[in-house]
Amino acid sequence: MGILNDIRAKAVKLKKTICLPEALDERTLLAAAGCAKLDFGPIVLVGEAEKIRARAGECGADISRAVIRDPASDSEFDRLVSTLVELRQAKGMTPEKARAALQDGIMYAAVLVKLGLVDGYVSGAVHSTADTLRPALQVIKARKGVKTVSAFFMMVLPEYSPYYRTQPVLFYADSGLVQNPGPEELADIAVGTAQSWKALIGGDPVVALLSHSTKGSAKHPDVDKVTAALEIIKKIAPELEVDGEFQADAALIREIGAKKAPGSRVPGRANVLIFPDLDAGNISYKLTERLAGATAIGPLISGLDKPVNDLSRGCKAEDIIDAVAVTCCQAAASSR
Ligand SMILES: CC(C)(COP(=O)(O)OP(=O)(O)OC[C@H]1O[C@@H](n2cnc3c(N)ncnc32)[C@H](O)[C@@H]1OP(=O)(O)O)[C@@H](O)C(=O)NCCC(=O)NCCS
Repeated sequence: MGILNDIRAKAVKLKKTICLPEALDERTLLAAAGCAKLDFGPIVLVGEAEKIRARAGECGADISRAVIRDPASDSEFDRLVSTLVELRQAKGMTPEKARAALQDGIMYAAVLVKLGLVDGYVSGAVHSTADTLRPALQVIKARKGVKTVSAFFMMVLPEYSPYYRTQPVLFYADSGLVQNPGPEELADIAVGTAQSWKALIGGDPVVALLSHSTKGSAKHPDVDKVTAALEIIKKIAPELEVDGEFQADAALIREIGAKKAPGSRVPGRANVLIFPDLDAGNISYKLTERLAGATAIGPLISGLDKPVNDLSRGCKAEDIIDAVAVTCCQAAASSR
């Protein structure tokens, strides 16, 4: 797929260091080997070196170029402990609790990212979304100026889609993380997803805030939430091309937008679609995938200070390589 090949090609140039904490998982080990073969930057695996090498041998994964960090023998373990205590003291974190928490590979990866010892982590082949993201939210936290971290899907349309010629790729958010965003959260979701567009696709994002109403055609507090979000975005990201509220057809089809939202420049050009809540975002990405034949890549995470991405537990090794490549691109953008 063109877009993923482009993102992989960027990752090869960037040479970022990405941690894969689920190091006994076969797909993860094959992905680590695949990243090395593609000439990405270093992959850091977390766990007992002997066990990881034995498992890699069983799976036929060549992990000779991966770095293995074992919390039990890591010379920097005390530094990780004191960092975690410092960050979470107010939440009752003690050195003893931190030592225990750092036995969990995902928490360990989150602290490595926080300290800049790796550039990002990818997890979720074995763990749930909540277990993958909670350490990131607690330790890495949202980027300065952003309160809400969110999840988006990269929707790659098939060539036969009527929208393909306008936009072969769309970002849908939030489709995986924030349950019931208020206006401020919705604004953060829009700005964060637009930044992810720049990091991954390049060029200018054009953001449409979606609703069941177009420019006041319906009156309801749910519509007010979206228009309030628009006002916040205009203040916090005045350079961003964004408009709303739009029904989906008004956002996507120029002629419909011209009738329902005259004067708006977004209709027919939208590439970042912001849904009013998680139900709408999640249902829409699955409908687009199943009924329109789009490929859904994600959930990918926006708004963290440093990048972390989640995997589906049904993922394949190639999906993990793609997530690593995306994480490399986000890391390059967040260090700018
Ligand atoms: C991500 C998620 C797991 C976090 O919830 P949780 O595990 O209950 O954790 P908490 O609510 O205690 O939050 C943990 C920390 O993350 C922070 N946090 C949670 N969501 C956040 C967000 N969207 N942005 C920024 N910070 C967030 C909290 O403020 C808290 O910080 P603190 O401990 O420093 O006070 C939860 O939002 C979730 O389950 N979302 C839905 C994910 C899902 O089910 N997706 C499947 C497909 S839709």
